[in-house]
Amino acid sequence: MVLRTDTATHRAETLIDLGAISHNVQLLAARATEHGAATMVVVKADGYGHGAVPVAKAALRGGATWLGTAAIDEALQLREAGITAPILTWLYVPGEDFAGAIAADIDLAVSSIDGLRLVEAAARQAGKPARVHLKVDTGLTRNGAQPADWADLVKHALASDEVRPLAIWSHLASADEPGHENIDLQATRFDEAYRACKEFGWNPLRHLANSAATLTRPDLYFDIVRPGVAAYGLNPIPGLDDGGLIPAMSFRSVVALVKRVPAGEGVSYGHSWTTPRDTTLALVPVGYADGIPRSLSGRFQVVLGGRPRDVVGRVCMDQIVVDLGDDTASIGDEVLVFGPGTQGEQTAQDWADRLGTIHYEIVCGMGRSRVRRTYVDG
Ligand SMILES: Cc1ncc(COP(=O)(O)O)c(C=O)c1O
Repeated sequence: MVLRTDTATHRAETLIDLGAISHNVQLLAARATEHGAATMVVVKADGYGHGAVPVAKAALRGGATWLGTAAIDEALQLREAGITAPILTWLYVPGEDFAGAIAADIDLAVSSIDGLRLVEAAARQAGKPARVHLKVDTGLTRNGAQPADWADLVKHALASDEVRPLAIWSHLASADEPGHENIDLQATRFDEAYRACKEFGWNPLRHLANSAATLTRPDLYFDIVRPGVAAYGLNPIPGLDDGGLIPAMSFRSVVALVKRVPAGEGVSYGHSWTTPRDTTLALVPVGYADGIPRSLSGRFQVVLGGRPRDVVGRVCMDQIVVDLGDDTASIGDEVLVFGPGTQGEQTAQDWADRLGTIHYEIVCGMGRSRVRRTYVDG
C-alpha cells in the first residue's frame, strides 16, 4: 500500500488502494482456477464501503469473471458504468424493477415460486427470458427455498418459457469457524438439492463458497466462488494464514488545531479524560458522523507525526482529540486513523476486536457522505 505523500487537505478521506483489490482477487481467483472454478466478487453495499464501480473494475482486472450485489439498483449502477461482466443480484423488495434488470442482462436469484412468477411476468415485459439462479436454504435460514419446497421450485423453473435456470446456490452460516458442523451439514443439503436437479435431467452450475470457504474449503468451490470481504483485503478468519491479502482501505484526516493545555483539564464531552500533566492536544475534525464509532472513545490510537498517539476523551460527531504529550504538530499534518497497519496505524480488525464486532462493519461504516474517497493504485 502506498499512501499519497502530499498533505491531505480534505477533513475526512478514505483512501482505497485498487491495486490491493486486484492483488487480493488475483490470490482468490488463483485458488478457484486451480479447482476449475470461476470467481464472483461481491460488491454490494457500495463495495463494502470502498466504492462499487472502481472495486468492480479492479476485481475484474484481478481475474474475477462475475460480480454479485444484493440489490438490483447496485447491479444497474455497474451496468451504467459500462461493466458487461455477468452480475447476480439476490435481495428484493416489493415493486422491484425485475424487467429493468432482465433488460440489463442481470441474473436474478429466485427463492420461491411466488418470486419465480414475478420474474416470469417481468421477462414477458422485458421481451426476453430471465437468467435465474435458484437459491436453496441449506441452513442459514434467511433467503432461499426450504429443502421441502425445492423440488417444486426446480420443476416450475425448468418448465417455464420465461426463465433460463442457470445455477443453484446457497450461502454458508459458519464458514468463518473452520470445522464447524454447520459447514458440512449445509454442504450435504446442497448436494441433496443438486441431486434433485439431476433427477429432473438438469445439471446446473453451483456456487456456495464465501471468502472464508474460499480460503479453507476447496471441496466447496463447485463452479463459482463468491468472496466478498477477502477481496477488500480483510481476513474472514482472523489469525488464519490468508496467503497475503492486503487491506485496501485507509482512513485519514488532518490536524485542525494544536494547543497546550495545563494539567487537570477535562477533555471533550463528559470529561471522560482529564489531562494528567501539562500536554499538547491536537484537534482532528472527524467523528462518529464520519464512521468512527463513538464506542471507541478512549480505546484507540491514530498515527500523527510518524507514531501512534492516544485519542483521548469522547469521540464526538465531528471531532476527536489526540494527546501529543510534549511533542507538537502543525495544522494540516496528516492523521492516519486506520489502514493496513504498515505505518503503525490500527487496522479495521483492531477496531473490530475492541468493539466486539467484525471488520465488515467498520469498513462499511466509513462510506459516509462527507467522507471523500480517493483512489490510489499501490
Ligand atoms: C449471498 C452472499 N454471497 C457471498 C457473500 C460474501 O461473503 P464474504 O464477504 O463473507 O466473503 C455475501 C456477503 O455477505 C453474500 O450475502
